[in-house]
Amino acid sequence: MESKAIFVNAGGGFNTVTTEQVTVKNPATDEITVRLHANSLNYHDYAVVKGLWAPSERRIPMADGAGEVIEVGENVTEFKVGDSVVSTFFPTWENGEPIVDGFSTVPGDGIDGYAREYVTSSSNSFTKSPKGWSHVEASTLTTAALTAWRALMCFNTIKAGETVLLQGTGGVSIFALQFAKMVGAKVIATSSSEQKLERLIEMGADHVINYKTEPNWGKRAKELNGGVGVDHVVEIGGGETLEQSLAAVRVGGQISLIGILSGQTCEINIVKAFIQQVRLQGVLVGSRSQQQEMIKAIEVNQIKPVVDKVFSLEDMVGAFEYQESNRHFGKICLEF
Ligand SMILES: NC(=O)c1ccc[n+]([C@@H]2O[C@H](COP(=O)([O-])OP(=O)(O)OC[C@H]3O[C@@H](n4cnc5c(N)ncnc54)[C@H](OP(=O)(O)O)[C@@H]3O)[C@@H](O)[C@H]2O)c1
Repeated sequence: MESKAIFVNAGGGFNTVTTEQVTVKNPATDEITVRLHANSLNYHDYAVVKGLWAPSERRIPMADGAGEVIEVGENVTEFKVGDSVVSTFFPTWENGEPIVDGFSTVPGDGIDGYAREYVTSSSNSFTKSPKGWSHVEASTLTTAALTAWRALMCFNTIKAGETVLLQGTGGVSIFALQFAKMVGAKVIATSSSEQKLERLIEMGADHVINYKTEPNWGKRAKELNGGVGVDHVVEIGGGETLEQSLAAVRVGGQISLIGILSGQTCEINIVKAFIQQVRLQGVLVGSRSQQQEMIKAIEVNQIKPVVDKVFSLEDMVGAFEYQESNRHFGKICLEF
């Protein structure tokens, strides 16, 4: 069978993106074939397609894909035809301690991803989607949601009554807000936009800070938590935000190192970090079983993702240009 797929050249670049016809292969014994219907965009996918850290081979981009199983190999027992499924970021990391080093096994980076109508791959490359979710909604889970989930729920688990500091209103931070509220934690959230701060309050944020007009937002967050500092910071800014996160966190608190939106390097005061006994925890998405645990919690708590805007598969570059503008709140998706 012939179907549509999007390719980006080795080295990336929006001007190298093409739509082509590819042949869909039949599933081997441990594989499934999925009719994909949606992708969601992440900064990582943007970096691959834009060429900021692009693979050295021509690639089908996008790590997050959701759709319907249309054929299963004879040894596959976990899925049946008609199941709604969502991709896993690390198809080779089933559970337990991290075994993955970098992005060589990640769809849309080290291997071909899901910007295509059909894919045949190992059944480990997918989990079932939350019941009742559309494919667009399910596609938001693979990267952003699982990263937020793992940061808050798998290291030093956040508890009711504790306080989480979130940065900006992108995919990871909005899921982190939802998971923090799910367990009854207090949320202090930041944004560069007054309009988005209002939306954060509507979503349950207890305090908000404009990080553009309040450059010492770390100190402000500490004050807002009674002067003791916050229990957990979901750190997506990186270079220019880590110092503020250190100012915000309580003695013995955790900073989850996740993103680099403001830069990859910075100087930090190591003395302050050890005097404060801060835990700096690197997080790189999560395992397949953590994705399944997250989906169970999402179903029980009836959480729905915040999808800002949906584009067509062919307008993938337009979707990334919209992401580049930082006008979004939550997730941007493709539907096909
Ligand atoms: N380690 C991992 O496993 C992992 C997984 C997913 C993502 N990430 C990383 O996490 C970061 C966020 O990813 P995402 O998918 O959530 O991105 P996104 O949806 O594109 O988020 C963009 C938003 O982040 C906010 N932002 C940008 N610069 C900021 C800054 N200096 N300080 C505070 N907020 C800032 C802005 O919010 P406002 O408009 O409200 O100001 C912006 O709209 C990226 O660096 C990404 O690579 C890492």
